[in-house]
Amino acid sequence: MKLIDFHSHVLPGIDDGAKDIEESVEILDMMAKAGVEILFCTPHFYPHKQSLDSFLNKRQAAYERLMRYIKPEHPKLRLGAEVLLSKQLEKEELDLLKLENTDYVLIEMPYVHFSGSMYESLYELADTRGVNVLVAHIERYLANNSLAEIEELFAEENVLGQINCTSLRKFSLRRKCIKLIKNGCVHALGSDYHRIERGYALLDEGVKILHKKLKADGLNRLIGSSESIEKNVALEEILSV
Ligand SMILES: [Fe+2]
Repeated sequence: MKLIDFHSHVLPGIDDGAKDIEESVEILDMMAKAGVEILFCTPHFYPHKQSLDSFLNKRQAAYERLMRYIKPEHPKLRLGAEVLLSKQLEKEELDLLKLENTDYVLIEMPYVHFSGSMYESLYELADTRGVNVLVAHIERYLANNSLAEIEELFAEENVLGQINCTSLRKFSLRRKCIKLIKNGCVHALGSDYHRIERGYALLDEGVKILHKKLKADGLNRLIGSSESIEKNVALEEILSV
């Protein structure tokens, strides 16, 4: 079983994640122990606050600094971004924000009750701008939305979802995550790792919990779709499994 973490803030000093190289390396050491093979580094990108150029330059610099300290056992790093939903992003910009070597962009929804125009903006990203959408930590929006409203994000069948392993630790949230998985809304896992002091569940812990709660079939399907995203398999193919 290939463990791929699709969501992390491990690059040093770029957002509210790891504050320096030491912290980044410590997190990568833990991920290596947990058996994570591929880690997408997805610092926050807020289109209304920063220019894309400045974001990409900072991300590249942080990545190059960290690469000097990478150990052979560490997961393979791939670049990406956690992009706040925005109407203003053009196709050329979204192309630069994709999870490396894929056509998928990790999209963060605003932490409010979803409006009709937010659903429209999300569907539009996939429909007219030629990227595939992976919605970040879909269970976190339950604070402002019902389960049915979250599931509505996937109504157009051109959107995939990711959940945070840490959310599986909490009983009530875990139950809702399991429902979302069973209802076909979850295709990838992430740690959403920020700072060590906050304590996150890594992929091994998430998979262990899911192994108990889902039948082997359900877990294999989820891991299978995450491997397919990493290999950039066509969205239709992933959704047809
Ligand atoms: Fe995040």
